[in-house]
Amino acid sequence: AQNEATLYVDGKKSNITISRHIYGQFAEHLGRSIYDGFWVDKNLNVQKQGRIRMDIVEALKKIKIPNLRWPGGCFADEYHWRDGIGPAKDRPKMVNTNWGGVVEDNSFGTHEFLELCKLLNCEPYISANVGSGTPDEMSKWVEYLNFDGLSPMTELRKRNGNAKPYHVSFWGVGNESWGCGGNMTAEYYSNEYRRYATFAKDYGNAKLKKIAAGASDFDYNWTETMMKNVGHRMWGLSLHYYTIPTGNWGKKGSATGFSEQEYFNTMERALRMDELLTKHIAVMDKYDPKRNVALVVDEWGIWTDVEAGTNPGFLYQQNSLRDALIAASTLNIFHKHAERVKMANLAQTVNVLQALILTEKEKMLLTPTYHVFDLYKVHQDAELLDIKFVSPDYSLNGKKIPALNFSASKDINGVVNISIVNLDATKEISLTTDLGDLKWNDVSGELLTSANLSDINTFEKPDLVKLQKFSKATKNGSQLLVKIPPHAIVNLSLK
Ligand code: AHR
Repeated sequence: AQNEATLYVDGKKSNITISRHIYGQFAEHLGRSIYDGFWVDKNLNVQKQGRIRMDIVEALKKIKIPNLRWPGGCFADEYHWRDGIGPAKDRPKMVNTNWGGVVEDNSFGTHEFLELCKLLNCEPYISANVGSGTPDEMSKWVEYLNFDGLSPMTELRKRNGNAKPYHVSFWGVGNESWGCGGNMTAEYYSNEYRRYATFAKDYGNAKLKKIAAGASDFDYNWTETMMKNVGHRMWGLSLHYYTIPTGNWGKKGSATGFSEQEYFNTMERALRMDELLTKHIAVMDKYDPKRNVALVVDEWGIWTDVEAGTNPGFLYQQNSLRDALIAASTLNIFHKHAERVKMANLAQTVNVLQALILTEKEKMLLTPTYHVFDLYKVHQDAELLDIKFVSPDYSLNGKKIPALNFSASKDINGVVNISIVNLDATKEISLTTDLGDLKWNDVSGELLTSANLSDINTFEKPDLVKLQKFSKATKNGSQLLVKIPPHAIVNLSLK
């Protein structure tokens, strides 16, 4: 029937872990992400450690962010790390050519980033400069951070206050090398990767996980060339995919004002992540059938027009329930491909693109997307469970997409979490489940929804869209029956 769905969850071991690194974040020197985001004026009246804003740190710790990618993005291929170490007063002031032409004063550099990661209790993921850098510069950055012996780099690190190495494992070798990272061809970049990677060494027990700059969207040739020419010399190969509501980079669409048709089109585009992953993975499988090389979706999210009156180069956009539905659906897709997708980074954590957190002077708010990461944190490092489902369509003006998407996992304590997204703008859907051999006694649930798809949290009303208790899941014998509200995200925990 039209508003009915079925879900089968296989309780047997899949031996596939949903890596916590799928929940990774991204903070570029862009707009108000670092400066006036994580790193604030010393006179701003908020709790700080140095100049790091602690309300942001606490909020991100709560959702257990596993890693943070830095310093870019496009910024990374113009960044020279030595500009950002040593006494702040001696650091050069320069122009951020990629993002608004503003002054980059280098007050936030390597040590400040690693201090932030320590406070967040997350792993650093550093993107090194390939576009305008040198293999020596990257090699010395690795040595500066990871070596424990005697060398000019370790002496310099000690002079800058850190006697002990940082052991940074995740290293990006360039970013978007087909575009802002140097406009290279895949063939050319694959050679550059090999050269840079050769001189980025493992020190002590910090075995580097090198991540090659990967394809944009549907560029399967890039993936093919990298797998053929580089293969196991990389730990991971990246992929970037942004959801543009209108599909037009010139006029992307508003973050807050959109029709149901535009919402539908946006979701259709967001769901293409599944097709993209399936096809890039098929290419990778040809060269690496054992799935040793990770696919790393280190930039993803919705990209809309900026808010009126803000600097177009700062990419500041509001965040609505629509964006939360994109985030939840995308995470479900990542889970489905978790055998290959071992890392992903939402673009970007604070004040930029699909942010988790927005700030305005002393004020801070958590976006609907933040609440998805909170709801879904139960899946981090849990075992993926195999699912099959039949979903009704969400149809609009002759086009259709599946109304529902799901994922299920089992955590180390044996708790099964089933996440359900209903994209249909207006219809509640009744779900009947077959949970195979799973043994459970009790179900509890949480829900994220709001009256309108375009509802947002504002500094005046920061809690309009927030998690609520969900009570429309019932146990009927061994069956679980659920009524899923329209445009909603539900997580059910079975114990
Ligand atoms: O996230 C914003 C920008 O999008 C990044 O700097 C770049 O890598 C991508 O094009």
